Parts: sequence; structure tokens; C-alpha cells
Amino acid sequence: MELTRNELAMLDGQKGLAIQKAMELLVKYGEALGAERLVDTSNVAGVPGQSSPFLHNYYKDYPGGKDVIFSHFDLDSDVVVDVPNTLVSSCHLQGGVDQAHPELFGVSAETAELYQNSENYAADHGIKILKTCTPYLAGNVPVRGEHCAWMESSAVIYCNAVLGAYTNTEGRESTSAAMITGKIPDWGLHKTENRYGSHRIDVEVSVKNVMDWGMLGYFSGKIVQEKIPVLNGNYSMPDLLCHKHFGAAAASSGGVEMYHVVGATPEAETLEMAFGPKKPVEIIKYGETERRQTYEDLNARARDPQVDYIMLGCPHYSLEQIRDVCRLLEGKKISVNCNLWIFTSRFVKQISDQKGYSEIIRQAGGVILTDSCSAIGQAIPEGTKVVALDSAKQTHYLPAIMGIEAWFGSMEDCIDAALTGRWNGKAP
Ligand code: F3S
Repeated sequence: MELTRNELAMLDGQKGLAIQKAMELLVKYGEALGAERLVDTSNVAGVPGQSSPFLHNYYKDYPGGKDVIFSHFDLDSDVVVDVPNTLVSSCHLQGGVDQAHPELFGVSAETAELYQNSENYAADHGIKILKTCTPYLAGNVPVRGEHCAWMESSAVIYCNAVLGAYTNTEGRESTSAAMITGKIPDWGLHKTENRYGSHRIDVEVSVKNVMDWGMLGYFSGKIVQEKIPVLNGNYSMPDLLCHKHFGAAAASSGGVEMYHVVGATPEAETLEMAFGPKKPVEIIKYGETERRQTYEDLNARARDPQVDYIMLGCPHYSLEQIRDVCRLLEGKKISVNCNLWIFTSRFVKQISDQKGYSEIIRQAGGVILTDSCSAIGQAIPEGTKVVALDSAKQTHYLPAIMGIEAWFGSMEDCIDAALTGRWNGKAP
């Protein structure tokens, strides 16, 4: 890998041991990927130094104080280093627990304190504690062409496809190293030639709302796996929420990190622009049959119409989605047999509190939670057997993680289930 003079100085240890270890990691990682150089980044999203009961126990007898986990686990260093403040703008993504509601996550006060301590550690090192999978809804909105180093598949795909910024799906180690060096290997989606479409998906059925886009994303990911779908055809212009649900779904049924919607996303003003010099390797139809099959696939693990848990907010809900829930819930009570948990970022929850939305949801019997979700936190209400979801991503993961049945539908279907205790959703 060819390094600049400044990068060589970092690698030689002239900027301190922590920076040296971070550069060693990035160079090793970049060379394994065939990267020829590093690229500057000033926007990093990861989970620096995040502890967990497992990591806490594993490292509890290691000497070195607060920097032990970041040194050994994040930087893969054999010695403990003095971790400096982040060099570039960096934020903390979601974690495993809402520290304001440890009881709902089944964690003890002691474990909640552990999470709080690791959050304090990150904050003390200059990291913005957004604690969300939707940093772009909480003030971190990269600009077109900006090189980023982000973790979290649903955020990565949004960053690339919708914002036109450049990132691969990074890991904890590379993001932590990037935070203190401002560098990331220049490969994959950092390079324009790798951002063109591979498959054309001809949309022949009306696609107009969040549920439609979520299903189309799930279908697209299943077909293209880790390649780049280009959507062309019969859809209403997707808004931010449609993109949020499309991308999260495509990144879970496949490993999609980038897509184009012709006429809507910044690198696809036209079909020709979306494919650049490439030709589609396959042209796939998304019509009535494919849509119905996708709906059936998503609902394949549900039998019992008796619903006991409704989880909304995957990816974390926007303020508008919380407002829409309030419109459906105001003045009503959810079924005594149901729990309603809505996940969002701290940032959005604060505005929701100010606007009285959180109180409307509380009075109806639901709760707004932050920082995590049922899949990441492996947390569901006690005794849950059947969940209702409006997220194809969460429907993909939660039944397998928690051993429960899951219904997939719209937000309206889910709120109806919360009020009646029964699933009445229908295929669109
Ligand atoms: Fe976010 Fe959890 Fe979904 S972290 S994208 S709400 S799986």
C-alpha cells in the first residue's frame, strides 16, 4: 500500500502509540482487501470501546484501566495504549440496552452501569453519543461524495444510495482506528467504478408507501445478494422513510450496500447513469406475482393471529412516524394482552417528548425506547409468542433470534393489532 508522508509518520509511531497501532490495523486490513492507499475520512460511525458483560468479564483481570477494551479489542493491540480523543467527527451507533429502561431489556442495575461507563468512556473521547442506527435522522448527514467510515448495514446503504456519500460496511475495529487517524482503506464503494448498478429490476406494480418499498427492498436483496440493484419503472418518488425501509430490507435479505432508483437517487438521474459503462447482468421483473410472493415469504413464520407484542422502529423511527402512530392511537388503549414498544434515537425521542407524542403513546399503553431494538438487544416482553412488525429487516431477524412468530405489515396493520390483540393484516 502506498502511504503519504503523514501516514508513514503515524505508522512509525511519531504521533503516539495508539495512532501507530490504529495505522498498523488499517494497513493490514487494507492490504488484505487489495487497497492501494488510504483515503481521508472525517465522518465515522461505530461503537468505540463499547463494553458488554462478556467483554467486561474477559478483560477484567487485564491491567491497563479504562483503555483496555479499546486497546486490545478495538485496535487489536497486544499492549494497552493511551487512547487519544477522536481526531475526526465520530458518532456512536446503537447499543444493546436502553439504559433508561434496563428492566425491559432484562439487565441488572450493575450491567446497566457497565453500559453507562462505556458510553461515558466514548463521550470523554469526543464521540457524539447518538446511539442510533439512523444517524442521518439525528444530525449526521454526510454530503455527496464525502468519504465516510460507517458501520450498521441500514445506515451504510442509506449513506451510499440516498446521500451519495461513500462508505463500505466497516467493522468496529476499522471504525475505531478511523476515529483516531481520519483514515480508511480506499476500496469497494469508495471507488466510483464500483458504484454502478449490476442488476436491473423492472418495477411493474405500483410501489408508493413504506410497506411497498420495504417489500421491494426485501425482494431486491434476495435477488442481487451483495450486488447493486437498479430500480426502474412504476413507483412514486420514494421519500426518506421509503428509502430507510427499502435499504434496511435489501441489506438484510441480501448484503446490499448500494442501490439506484432511476430518477430519484443522486447517482441515477437516468438508467444509463446508474449503470455507467456496465451492462446489467440480469433484468428481473417485480410484478404482482413477485410482490405477493415477497409478502408470503415475510409472513411465512406466522400462524397464530393472537398477537402479544408490537415492535415498531426498525430502523429507528423518525418523528413523522411517531406522529403517525399517535394519530392512530390518540384516545385509545392497546389490548391488555399486548405490549407496544417503539424504538427511536434519543434525539428524536427528545422532540417527541416536547411535542407530547411520547405521552400519547404512554397513555395508550405503549412505550418509546431508545439506543437499541429487540433484535440487537435480544429483548422482548416476557412471554411473547407472536410479534407484529412493520419492518422487513426486523421480520427477517427477530423470529430466528428469539424463537417467536412474526407478522409483517404496515404501521396501520401493526397498530390495529396493538388495539385488538389480533392480526388482521392483508396482502397489498
Ligand atoms: Fe436499527 Fe435494530 Fe433495525 S438497530 S436497523 S432497529 S435491527
